[in-house]
Amino acid sequence: MFRLARHGLRWRRPYSSVAASDIEHFKTFLPPNAILTTLSPSNLASSELDPFNNDWMGKYRGQSTTVLKPKTTQQVSDIVRWCASREIPIVPQGGNTGLVGGSVPLRDELVVSLANMNSVRSFDPVSGILVADAGCILQSLTDYVAPHNHIMPVDLGAKGSCHIGGNVATNAGGLRLLRYGSLHGSVLGLEVVLPDGTILDQLTSLRKDNTGYDLKQLFIGAEGTLGIITAVSILTPPSPQASNNVILALPHFDNVQPLYRTVKRQLSEILSAFEFIDRTAYDLAVKHSQGRALSDEDVEGAECFVLVETSGGRREHDEQKLEDLLSSLFDEETPLINSGVLSQNPAQFSSLWALREGVTEAVSKEGKAYKYDISIPLASFQTVVDTTREHLRSKGLLGDHAVKHVLGYGHVGDGNLHLNIVAAAYMPEIQDALEPFVYELVASYRGSVSAEHGIGAMKTHALHYSKNDVSIEWMKKIKALFDPKGIMNPGKVLE
Ligand code: FAD
Ligand code: MLT
Ligand code: ZN
Repeated sequence: MFRLARHGLRWRRPYSSVAASDIEHFKTFLPPNAILTTLSPSNLASSELDPFNNDWMGKYRGQSTTVLKPKTTQQVSDIVRWCASREIPIVPQGGNTGLVGGSVPLRDELVVSLANMNSVRSFDPVSGILVADAGCILQSLTDYVAPHNHIMPVDLGAKGSCHIGGNVATNAGGLRLLRYGSLHGSVLGLEVVLPDGTILDQLTSLRKDNTGYDLKQLFIGAEGTLGIITAVSILTPPSPQASNNVILALPHFDNVQPLYRTVKRQLSEILSAFEFIDRTAYDLAVKHSQGRALSDEDVEGAECFVLVETSGGRREHDEQKLEDLLSSLFDEETPLINSGVLSQNPAQFSSLWALREGVTEAVSKEGKAYKYDISIPLASFQTVVDTTREHLRSKGLLGDHAVKHVLGYGHVGDGNLHLNIVAAAYMPEIQDALEPFVYELVASYRGSVSAEHGIGAMKTHALHYSKNDVSIEWMKKIKALFDPKGIMNPGKVLE
């Protein structure tokens, strides 16, 4: 379990705890079912707040006594204004699928859950601009725009639980970034409740707007440290007319880079994803029933796998391109791949994706995961996985009682490796062996310690491996400007 002292995370100021008198105040503008509290006179058992106090991985646990579930922006504003006057710290919470401990309290902060703010405000089928409450679940927005032949520009394994507000707050990357770019590009506007309760309405639906500083960009990826996002205006792309995917089995990791070059050149505009899983990740996905296993013949001798997706305008054209690619790969004197399994129908398409998307779920079923989400040069993906494994071996930590697996998977097109260490339990010896070892390794490549999951509570002490002193100093000044009382998600992003 995460301990405050471990990385020197500390509270810099004497914050207030939520008191029974605060609950009385919240009752003046929130209905009873929007207030979950264990404070007297409530008879809620503290275990009923477990889903809000515990993170998805079972790694971080807070002790909040109170969760509020506002329905309107005005209610969020009233909550924050009160908390600012009382210096009560707040954790904004979306779907609580975050992987860096940012979405749960470190102590007894007030949790403000956006789950009840879940309406679509508007959708323009001509421009594809969607305006939605921050608490809308990503999958429900995908379902909402689908009949209009649009898709969400972001897609990730947690789509059934994560909120669009959480996606924006973490600047989630996911499986479509290669094609549609980051949320810094597709988010057109935001409505945010600032740390003093003021409502900042920047919910424009303009493609172009060069009127000075683009303030909304500051909240994208701020992980709830600068304010609470209450609504998002986002550009949704048209649905592709045809999508195909194929899983390629590679004999060596070294083939990934030349394969990526070949695939980009041959598929050009229809390439929409190029995702990597190493053999351990594949075996775990199969073991824990994520997607359907490939045949023994297809996986024989494979060191790793690549999932290629195409999305284009004309099925026959795209299929032809994919088939041409596969035959040219096999025609090579020394083929880059051992085999290719092409989906033939929508069920197979989803099943191939499940082998990649399901790795996260499989890892969590296998044990407790130490997750490092890093940007490094593609050529070094395998070296980083192998070096970490050897390092743990040299410390005597490999084995069923400690570290069960070291694996790598991720978004090749984005230069983003997910290095996962799966252990029997979270143990201080493993933690000490991994950090700062992994961060120093990343820094040696001038990489990033967080490609997409954020800093949260996990990496505040590691920010300096990827950001220089001047950058951190200005981040602190921005935080102090927006949140002088430091009530918004304290102990996250910045120490
Ligand atoms: P939460 O977990 O609730 O919160 C995350 C952070 O955002 C916290 O700091 C919280 O305080 C803040 N926050 C949440 N909502 C708001 C708001 N309305 N206003 C201000 N701050 C807010 N991430 C990726 O980037 N790419 C992936 O491919 C990916 N795949 C995943 C697959 C699985 C199976 C899982 C479990 C997680 C995955 N994640 C991935 C991580 C996670 O799902 C994303 O970070 C997601 O965007 C978090 O959304 P959420 O609504 O669950 O936010
Ligand atoms: C992914 O790419 O699968 C996600 O970022 C989640 C993870 O890292 O496990
Ligand atoms: Zn990812």
